[in-house]
Amino acid sequence: MTQAFPETGAPRDQVLAALRDARAHDLVADGRAFAFLYDPGEEARALAREAFAACMPANGLDPTAYPSARTLENAVVKACLELVHAPAGAVGTATAGGTESVMLAVKAARDHARATRPAITRPRMLLPVTAHACFHKAAHYLGVEVVDVDVDPTTFRADVGDARRKMTDDVILVVGSAPSYTHGVIDDLPALAALAAEHGALMHVDACVGGCLLPFLREAGVDGPAFDFAIDGVTSLSMDLHKYGFAPRGVSLLLQRRRDLRDAQYYTCATWTGYSIINSTTLGSKSVAALGAAHAMIQHLGKVGYRERARRMWDATQHLVGVVDATPGLAMVGRPDMNLFAFTTTDGDVFALADRLTARGWHVQPTYAFGPSPAHIHLTLDPENARRARELGDDLAACARDLPPRTAPPAPVVELLGRIASGAPGIDPRAVVAEMGLGAGTMPREAAPLHRVMNALAPAAREQLLRLFFAELFS
Ligand SMILES: Cc1ncc(COP(=O)(O)O)c(C=O)c1O
Repeated sequence: MTQAFPETGAPRDQVLAALRDARAHDLVADGRAFAFLYDPGEEARALAREAFAACMPANGLDPTAYPSARTLENAVVKACLELVHAPAGAVGTATAGGTESVMLAVKAARDHARATRPAITRPRMLLPVTAHACFHKAAHYLGVEVVDVDVDPTTFRADVGDARRKMTDDVILVVGSAPSYTHGVIDDLPALAALAAEHGALMHVDACVGGCLLPFLREAGVDGPAFDFAIDGVTSLSMDLHKYGFAPRGVSLLLQRRRDLRDAQYYTCATWTGYSIINSTTLGSKSVAALGAAHAMIQHLGKVGYRERARRMWDATQHLVGVVDATPGLAMVGRPDMNLFAFTTTDGDVFALADRLTARGWHVQPTYAFGPSPAHIHLTLDPENARRARELGDDLAACARDLPPRTAPPAPVVELLGRIASGAPGIDPRAVVAEMGLGAGTMPREAAPLHRVMNALAPAAREQLLRLFFAELFS
């Protein structure tokens, strides 16, 4: 794609063709991707596109200039508060995604504690190691300390005993997942919420993945742990409309049990020469296009449409879990409460298995070991890939046969990468990126050697290499 700023403009067809070309290698919604996509099906997707375009001109920065921003947000928030058993007086905000919802939940907890518990000078947050990385990001941005909470090494649910042992007077927030992204399990949220309430802390449920789906699974007859405001002590909950709400990327909700909690999330500024601002989220000018599309999805699919999709995804999940259980050499990592899960190999190389699935046209997510969670393959099901679960299951069983054994990557390579990651002088990052097979900016087809090395590195070295890689991608 040309990177020049042209002197004269090109015709419409030409610029649109360039965009299509640029997207030629992107992941597509063809039912073969078991990560990243939340595809409700072509008809609903087409409607979402139209709704997105219809709402594109509005700017959520000023709901008095663009009343549609307020109308849409209030409508979507109200509909979703009801789904998650929010009590009277509960409120919410539309955000740009799960990460923003979580960051605002942490900001609100911090600022609420500043106002109500001023003796706390070092705010801390109890965070299960299975909680999404965006909580670490929030902690990093907002000056809140993370206290890692262990998880049970078999169920991968937060260890409430460990949380209790680590509870101190300066904990402002306790976090639990509904469910965790990695293993698809719901933490013991009633116990975590009770612990938080006992110590005057707030309790956030990260239902970014589950919020728009668990209510419909329950209605479809799939039983499971409590996860929402029906639990006493849950003070806020995040739920992503751009995941199982089936809206395009760019919309999530942060819901709060009480209005004073949301007040702590707001930011206002009148100390400059321009217009006075009041922002509920981190952005200033903001699109409401995805929010409009979320509203259209809710209205178009209705509870029946969400319920039917939830049931389809759950049945497909049960099928694939059954395949893992029945296939020698494969093992589940935890047992999912929803339609996303992790599995691994008992002896063979899990990264070689991922490569074999890639060679058969599947997109899966190889994931590195951390704490009690071994290196594994993660699968996220959506309504469309669920239709192909039997096909994937057959391929999975076939690919799991005669896997090469797990081998440690060559020690000198791990050692060298470790040194580079820690800033060894005189090494060209471009050469390292090329050596890792990432020169083209995409994963190599045979990614197992790269994954084996990354998996063997300490997390800090891994993070450093990711920085190198990313910086190269955008140079
Ligand atoms: C449980 C959970 N929380 C938060 C997030 C962050 O969401 P986003 O990628 O929309 O920022 C994710 C993303 O997968 C998630 O699975």
